[in-house]
Amino acid sequence: EQYKKARQQFVQTIADQSCQPHMIDILHQVGVLNLLKPLLMDCVPSIQQTAATALGRLANHSDAMAEAIVDCGILPQLVYSLSEQNASELFYKKAVAFVLRSVARHSPRLALAIVQCGAVDALVICLEEFDPGVKESAAWALGDIAKHNPELAQSVVDAGSVPLLVTCLQEPEHAVKRVAASALSEISKHCVELAQVVVDAGSICLLVRLIPCPETKVKRQVYSALGQIAKHNIDLAEMVVDAEVFPYVLHSLKDPDDIVKKNAATLVREVSKHSSELAQLVVNAGGLGAVVEYMGCTRGNIRLPGVMMLGYVAAHSENLAMTVIVSKGVVMLGCVLCDECEDYMLAAAAWSLGQIGRHTPEHAKAVAMANVLPRLLQLYITESYSEDLKIKAKNALKSVITKCTLLCALEPLFQEAPENIMKHILGQFSKVLPHDSQARKDFVTSGGLKKIQEIKAEPGSAMAEYITVINNCYPEEIIRYYSPGYPESLLEKLNI
Ligand SMILES: *[C@@H]1O[C@H](CO)[C@@H](O)[C@H](O)[C@H]1NC(C)=O
Ligand SMILES: *[C@@H]1O[C@H](CO)[C@@H](O)[C@H](O)[C@H]1NC(C)=O
Repeated sequence: EQYKKARQQFVQTIADQSCQPHMIDILHQVGVLNLLKPLLMDCVPSIQQTAATALGRLANHSDAMAEAIVDCGILPQLVYSLSEQNASELFYKKAVAFVLRSVARHSPRLALAIVQCGAVDALVICLEEFDPGVKESAAWALGDIAKHNPELAQSVVDAGSVPLLVTCLQEPEHAVKRVAASALSEISKHCVELAQVVVDAGSICLLVRLIPCPETKVKRQVYSALGQIAKHNIDLAEMVVDAEVFPYVLHSLKDPDDIVKKNAATLVREVSKHSSELAQLVVNAGGLGAVVEYMGCTRGNIRLPGVMMLGYVAAHSENLAMTVIVSKGVVMLGCVLCDECEDYMLAAAAWSLGQIGRHTPEHAKAVAMANVLPRLLQLYITESYSEDLKIKAKNALKSVITKCTLLCALEPLFQEAPENIMKHILGQFSKVLPHDSQARKDFVTSGGLKKIQEIKAEPGSAMAEYITVINNCYPEEIIRYYSPGYPESLLEKLNI
């Protein structure tokens, strides 16, 4: 009796201390794993279970601790106990699945170690267990194995997990639904073949049916899974759309939970990107207005899918790009360029603006009028920004400028534009000025004409040609008057 009590007390103490990060190294140094090993086979179930719980907490703590658990050879014994058919072992199974998950989650290498000791088959058997806690724990472990790479996900699929995970979506317990949806998401994300397996098991309908679920954590995973399915190709995206996720997903853009919002916005983006038909469908469902509104009340990473969605929609066609403009998408992207500070956010906004402005002069005008060109130029020429951001800003500038005939929006760029951008700007002036007398006058009074006389263009270059075309729109005296050195040459004449 006393010995039993002592074991119980000991294992509970270890389990408690395993929750305290500062204790873990000390426990490891005193050989805690070797002390836990025999307790995992204890004849008292509660001792077994507490020992497994302690082990799971240790494994969860760090890579190194998980490695040590793999190295000490406990895993095969744990896996064996998972497949035993004994109802009194339920809590133990749950704890064992927790250990496997806690090891697998750290790295592909550790997850592979879990696969190699035969855990996947044993975990799949647990998915059929009556007890919801065991199901949940097993599904969670499978997700943490599948998440790392396509090969690991494939081994989870090969063990026959997918139909059982799909069945779990119908369980009454929210925790089981959530973890199953999450595992399906982790499997689907890697490639179209794996997503197809998930879809073929009938997951889409069941996932969509969970959208009205009041449980936030379920919703997060449902949108995540649908997004990971829809992202791969048109067919899969169409299947998601056909299951009538719209307009529900748009309501979720206003969800109080940031992750629900972000996953819903990601799904909208993934559907919009594949074809103009799908994008049109999203637009018809009110997607643009909803996304622009969403972008108005989110920041940073959570806002990102909205930023990209506008670009994807606009990329498909002139008309779709115009609907983005009409929905105030350009103005919103202008706000993103002003109030975000991470390079990747600015890069995404720049890219989307380029996709909107590149179609026609009308589109370019809308972008220019939102006063984003000076900001794009600044992003392009400032050294400290990332290479990716500078390239995206440059490409956006080039796409918009080469379509822009609103000269008053281009002129402010004269001061700072480097030669490669200036070339495109002058190209636009050379197209517009010959046919527009008001613009010709404005160009003189604004000082633009004087400024371009100061440019030393390589003879024969495009830039030189544009300058010649522009100069030819004006009487020779005016050009001479604005050329550098003109006052001096006048004075010289006096000397004669
Ligand atoms: C596992 O570790 C993570 C941090 O790495 C922590 O957020 C999580 O709560 C831990 N899980 C358990 C069950 O202890
Ligand atoms: C189930 O486990 C309990 C406790 O470990 C044990 O007493 C019992 O004999 C086992 N039953 C079977 C059918 O193995």
